[in-house]
Amino acid sequence: MNQFYVTTPIYYVNDKPHIGHAYTTLVADVFARYYRGILGADNVFFLTGTDEHGQKIAEAAKTAGKEPQVFVDEVSEHFKESWELLNISYDYFFRTTDPRHEAFVRDVLQKIYDKGFIYKDKYKGLYCVGCEKYILPDEVVEGHCPLHANKPLEEREEENYFLSLSKLAPRVLEALENDEYRVLPAEKKNEIVSKVRGGIKDISISRAGVEWGVKVPWDESHTVYVWIDALFNYYTATRIVEGKERFWPADLHLLAKDILWFHAFIWEALLLAAEIPFPKAVFAHGFFTIDGQKMSKSIGNVIDPATLVARYGVDGARYLLLTAFPFGNDGDISLSRFDEKFNSDLANGIGNLVSRVATLCEKACLLGLPIPEEPASAASEAFARFYPDEALGHIWEEIRDLDKKINTDAPWKLEDKELKKVIGVYAKVLLRIGVDLSPFLPDTGKQIIDVFTKPAITKPHALFARLEKKQG
Ligand code: MSP
Repeated sequence: MNQFYVTTPIYYVNDKPHIGHAYTTLVADVFARYYRGILGADNVFFLTGTDEHGQKIAEAAKTAGKEPQVFVDEVSEHFKESWELLNISYDYFFRTTDPRHEAFVRDVLQKIYDKGFIYKDKYKGLYCVGCEKYILPDEVVEGHCPLHANKPLEEREEENYFLSLSKLAPRVLEALENDEYRVLPAEKKNEIVSKVRGGIKDISISRAGVEWGVKVPWDESHTVYVWIDALFNYYTATRIVEGKERFWPADLHLLAKDILWFHAFIWEALLLAAEIPFPKAVFAHGFFTIDGQKMSKSIGNVIDPATLVARYGVDGARYLLLTAFPFGNDGDISLSRFDEKFNSDLANGIGNLVSRVATLCEKACLLGLPIPEEPASAASEAFARFYPDEALGHIWEEIRDLDKKINTDAPWKLEDKELKKVIGVYAKVLLRIGVDLSPFLPDTGKQIIDVFTKPAITKPHALFARLEKKQG
């Protein structure tokens, strides 16, 4: 591999970002930083952005009493601010209201239409505005869609344009089964394969009554269904951002399981129809709840990433989110345990270890070390399988092992020469840990590297200040 292109979903701008969006974006950032370290910054492309068309956004703008464009301009800024706050190093921020993207979507749809993959028909069904999709009768739970209990389903009957998935499905299925594009984790691939084998209905790709969107090129009384418009962002970016053409096909689309179907099947069908190569991998990480409950406005547990940064600092927030639950599985984020974890893993863990070893180095007048060049082998293996959290877990094992080793060695009892030797080993291990930590906790990694590569090693300021109990 000599280049790496990683994407996040483009997030809906009906509301401000929360830690669900932050989680995927953070993981993408870790991948981007890791591969920049190996392949060089020019050979990595990290794309994120916002999904700005459709009924849901138009309704949110109306509620806010703003013109849709004004509204989406404002909310997309909130996403950029949050990513800046979390030290997210995206290379390009994509917005679907970019006129270059709109023109691209029209061109590509026209091409698919001309090739005979799109036709007009009547559609009758139950629509969930929260998901921006039709819900099948067997998916309905107590009168609403499984994800949006607060949004009543709308009964609709309208003329739509349809994508002939039935014509495209056999070839897409073959590609999926042969791993021409990979869907991960493996059990997710199996779910998609079974769903396709179970029979696929054509999907509607236009809306008659939705103004806020890209006009269908051959029939301007329709707008392009927001999901079709949105999926193309991954490809459009490589056409409209200078110098990025070579990055298609994408190496990794990251997302959660809620939108896997669109990414693991519909997207590839569209690409096939448009004669564009498939992406290389689609990874669906788990969906998390907060202290056992779904994140929702009505429950009042929607957490702004800024709240976490205010309490734990940037790297503290990054660490707590990245280690909150196993990457590929569903999980629960236990906020009540965040303080304890911050203290044990960061303040008393890596923070204390760095200060302990640097103090020993200072006493022994140890000189700084050269930066290791090779990436750690455990990390490269975990990244290649798309499980960066395992690489992070491995770093923490090393931290604990080194702590134990120091206690067993009891260096304070050693003679000068022997002392210098063992401390030199500790410093080397910690420098390696600093380098390996950098994609996850960029500032902390940099500080550790600085401490152990300075001409003479001295004790630094505390990396993480221990948290005291919250008041009240
Ligand atoms: N706009 C579409 C995506 C179009 S991509 C071509 C969309 N947007 S969204 O704002 O609803 O974002 C969904 C994504 O946010 C999830 O797939 C996941 O990446 C992230 N998450 C939102 N809540 C989350 C959790 N509670 N847990 C894990 N991921 C979370 O869908």
